[in-house]
Amino acid sequence: MDWNTFFIKELEQLKAYQPGLRVEQVKQQAAVDEVYKLSSNESPYPPFASAIAAMQGELEGLNQYPDGASTELREALAARYGVDFNQVTVASGSNSLLMDLATSCLHPGNNVVYCWPSFVVYRMSAQLTGAEYRELPLRADGVFDLDAILAAIDADTKIVYLCSPNNPTGGAITKPEFAAFLDKLPEQVLLVIDQAYQEFATDPAALDAMDFFDDARPLVVLRTFSKMYAMAGARVGYGIAPAPVIEAVDKIRTPFNVNSVAQAGALAALGDGEELERRRADNARGRQQLLDCFARLGLKTYPSEANFVWVFLDDAQAVFDKLLTHGIIVRNFAADGGLRIGVGDAAGVAATVQTFEEMFA
Ligand SMILES: Cc1ncc(COP(=O)(O)O)c(C=O)c1O
Repeated sequence: MDWNTFFIKELEQLKAYQPGLRVEQVKQQAAVDEVYKLSSNESPYPPFASAIAAMQGELEGLNQYPDGASTELREALAARYGVDFNQVTVASGSNSLLMDLATSCLHPGNNVVYCWPSFVVYRMSAQLTGAEYRELPLRADGVFDLDAILAAIDADTKIVYLCSPNNPTGGAITKPEFAAFLDKLPEQVLLVIDQAYQEFATDPAALDAMDFFDDARPLVVLRTFSKMYAMAGARVGYGIAPAPVIEAVDKIRTPFNVNSVAQAGALAALGDGEELERRRADNARGRQQLLDCFARLGLKTYPSEANFVWVFLDDAQAVFDKLLTHGIIVRNFAADGGLRIGVGDAAGVAATVQTFEEMFA
């Protein structure tokens, strides 16, 4: 067998997604008892208690397939956002929705436009389909540059990806900026707004893309239960989109794509607004402590509406290595001149602050 020619040629430029270091690896290497995994923008807390109870209640039913249409969860999401049931899709993580959206409409000759650095799956989705990807610099504040995106769109542009708050910088697009952008966006372009970190935003000016959702616009809003809802291990994400987009994605997705435990957990978590508010406040407090610490030490950061903070460093690699010896795992963006540091729980934030103070005070 000649494996070099066996696979579709698009795979040649694709690289498998690289997850961060595992806790066990770091425990062994750094010989520390306590490890703070602040590298994948996960929640430092367990899932909501209501979600854990609901998930435990599903275990004995695992002999059966889940509801393949995720009916109850989609109904709850439709009610939450005031949209129709057929305008909601759920998937095993919003990652897979991004890939399914791309495969439903992209082919060689099309292009997609977004800013960089941002979430690597936008690039992967284009690479898989053979579409061209146009990566434009972010604004100086780490937010998507909407004017640059408008200028890069041409007749072959099929998708524009926006990430707000943006991973890895943290900045959010504002409502007025977005409204002006929507007015100028050509009609043939599908606008995919990835709001995986939306629930952490506290600035009243930050965009909530659902404010702009209506049936007339080719707008897709993606969100996830992986971050604020602390269910990254269960894999549930969702998309709100015009019904034809949902129908297209439905044809592509794996049958029974969201398992029954995840469906039950997500449904319960969605109904627990009080816990969400508590966690939003905890995150905002920890985020501010990190930002204050970096400001005290004279280190530049981007503004953040997310559950992580980007800090610029002359030698990001050395700081990354030093943090690891303290059991603190962050995401290394040394090539872009910085580190992305997740907001941990109180102990994780304190450990991060202490280590930076030792290094820079
Ligand atoms: C911007 C962004 N979008 C989407 C995702 C995917 O989330 P999930 O597939 O867990 O729903 C992530 C995860 O890190 C992300 O950072």
